[in-house]
Amino acid sequence: MNPVFDANSPVGVLDSGIGGFSVARAVQQLLPAEQLIYFGDGAHIPYGNHPEDKIVAMARYMFSFLEQKQVKALLVACNTISCVIDRCADAVSCPTFNAVQAGANAVSRLDVEKVGVISTVFTHNSRCYPQRILAQSPKKLVVLSCGCPDLARLVEHNLGDPGGMAAVEADLHQELDHMVYDDHIQCCVLGCTHYPLVSDTIEKLYPGLPLIDPAQQMAQELRAYLTRSDLLRNAGLPGRLDVFTTGDVDEYALRARQVGLDPVNSVSYYPPMSLD
Ligand code: DGL
Repeated sequence: MNPVFDANSPVGVLDSGIGGFSVARAVQQLLPAEQLIYFGDGAHIPYGNHPEDKIVAMARYMFSFLEQKQVKALLVACNTISCVIDRCADAVSCPTFNAVQAGANAVSRLDVEKVGVISTVFTHNSRCYPQRILAQSPKKLVVLSCGCPDLARLVEHNLGDPGGMAAVEADLHQELDHMVYDDHIQCCVLGCTHYPLVSDTIEKLYPGLPLIDPAQQMAQELRAYLTRSDLLRNAGLPGRLDVFTTGDVDEYALRARQVGLDPVNSVSYYPPMSLD
């Protein structure tokens, strides 16, 4: 039987790691009264270098956790998981909003002819972004995509550390320079939730390049859904954020503070799925 949601039911946000904090932050800013439950699979990050069946299994484990929490909407912040959403969405009874569709929706409103996408290797190889962008674009667009094998992991573990951020910058140059300077992209979709966490750095390296963060679009789509379904929580009530991770609780608590999440009511450990 489907659970019955009401306005006080929580909203779920999931990601392979801390990257989805960029989505949780956008929701906190737009809908501060909502109660968020965040799940990051710190034990298994990076997802983007895994084969599809393994990503689906790990994602379904997280979906099931959030289904038990009776979330009224699930934000699939992880772009990599968004590419296999059709194999996961039946694990929850609430509507899902995924990052790739949100990113494609955001691009469809822009007046550009050449779009760049940076993402994990899995997202790049899936061609999910170019397909969804082109599917809804009324005019001819060129979509260039680049898969970055190391960038998500570098961001996950180096945020706030100047030495580590130098490694992030070096990796960005290696992956993004050719699309910016040789291919002359007119905007860049941050097709992995970890990348918006270093958008200041990307802006510094590529001044004037418009960056598309699917997080903003996801928060707006969530608000539209909750409003039309009469599930929006009373704006006078305080919001909450409870974080669960299969990884390091102290690291998640630190990262949550670093990216500006507020409030963060709890950070708890949850056992990872066994991959044997
Ligand atoms: N944050 C995830 C995404 O949006 C990817 C990081 C990973 O490879 O696990 O694709």
